[in-house]
Amino acid sequence: MQDTPAQPTAFSLLGGEDRVRELVDRFYDLMDLESEFAGIRSMHPEALGGSRDKLFWFLCGWLGGPNHYIERFGHPMLRARHLPFPIATSERDQWLRCMAWAMQDIGVEASLQERLMQAFHGTADWMRNRAG
Ligand code: HEM
Repeated sequence: MQDTPAQPTAFSLLGGEDRVRELVDRFYDLMDLESEFAGIRSMHPEALGGSRDKLFWFLCGWLGGPNHYIERFGHPMLRARHLPFPIATSERDQWLRCMAWAMQDIGVEASLQERLMQAFHGTADWMRNRAG
């Protein structure tokens, strides 16, 4: 029987760690700069360095690459970790719009953007913890 080639991960399609870091940096730069994201920006610490690192470590593994986040912190328990922050539809949509904008800005290929937005939507929707 012939070996079937392994499906490339989203991590490798995106271009590996440097590209994940670029995406996260653009995401938080936009969150910091654009007034439409002021609602979710205000939930974050004033200095965004720690938030950038954590999202970068998490996304590497979530996209099918190295498990930097789990190695440092164990199971992500993302929904529980977001419970202190009131997340309703508006906050979910700000996060998703900021991520879509960041992917566009760093030039993620169109079909990969679409695939990732579907996956981000599922995770962000699951994080909602308030009505509205
Ligand atoms: C739905 C809207 C979302 C809002 C408003 C939100 C907001 C936040 C805030 C305020 C923090 C704390 C930042 C810090 O302590 O530095 C955080 C942490 C985090 N968020 Fe989100 N987030 C959302 C969705 C997501 C999604 C969709 C993902 C992953 C795909 C994600 C991944 C993370 C990770 C990995 C952390 C760090 C957790 C930790 O170790 O403390 N978030 N988020």
